Amino acid sequence: MNKMNIRRIIREEIEGITHQWVKATTGSNDLRVIVKKGDTPVGVSTIARFGDSVYNVSGEDIQHTIMGLSVPPKHQGKGYGNILMDLTIEKARELTDKLYLIVSETNEKAINLYKKKGFKDMGPHPKYTRNRVMVLDL
Ligand SMILES: CC(C)(COP(=O)(O)OP(=O)(O)OC[C@H]1O[C@@H](n2cnc3c(N)ncnc32)[C@H](O)[C@@H]1OP(=O)(O)O)[C@@H](O)C(=O)NCCC(=O)NCCS
Repeated sequence: MNKMNIRRIIREEIEGITHQWVKATTGSNDLRVIVKKGDTPVGVSTIARFGDSVYNVSGEDIQHTIMGLSVPPKHQGKGYGNILMDLTIEKARELTDKLYLIVSETNEKAINLYKKKGFKDMGPHPKYTRNRVMVLDL
């Protein structure tokens, strides 16, 4: 298999997964937050609103959840993650009084950022046990 084919397959897989994931977990109530430096996006996150049946952790219905928060690698470590989180939290306040997120237990950078913003660890996700569920009271 040549490099072009490999790239095409990887791209299709990523688009497929992304599409399914987005379709399964996000809807028209979602809010996208984008931080730009000039015209260049340097950070993006989505506040998604799950239905009651999708997630129920520790007896709590997970409703407004941060999804896909990210800063492109070449812009990381310059404070954009901080700005992105502050804006995401500010926007979430208009929608809810509890903001959730799910993060891999090995994602030290993100966990540090979330703790710094006041998110509390609710423990491992009941299904995806290598992920932590975190919540912020707004
Ligand atoms: C997590 C992420 C958004 C942070 O963005 P960033 O722009 O690099 O973050 P900032 O430079 O604004 O730093 C914000 C905080 O993140 C944490 N952090 C950032 N880089 C870190 C590092 N190398 N090691 C440990 N903690 C780090 C710190 O708490 C930092 O606060 P501080 O500067 O007061 O110490 C970014 O690394 C990213 O996009 N990662 C890949 C995608 C991802 O994992 N998203 C989270 C999915 S749940």
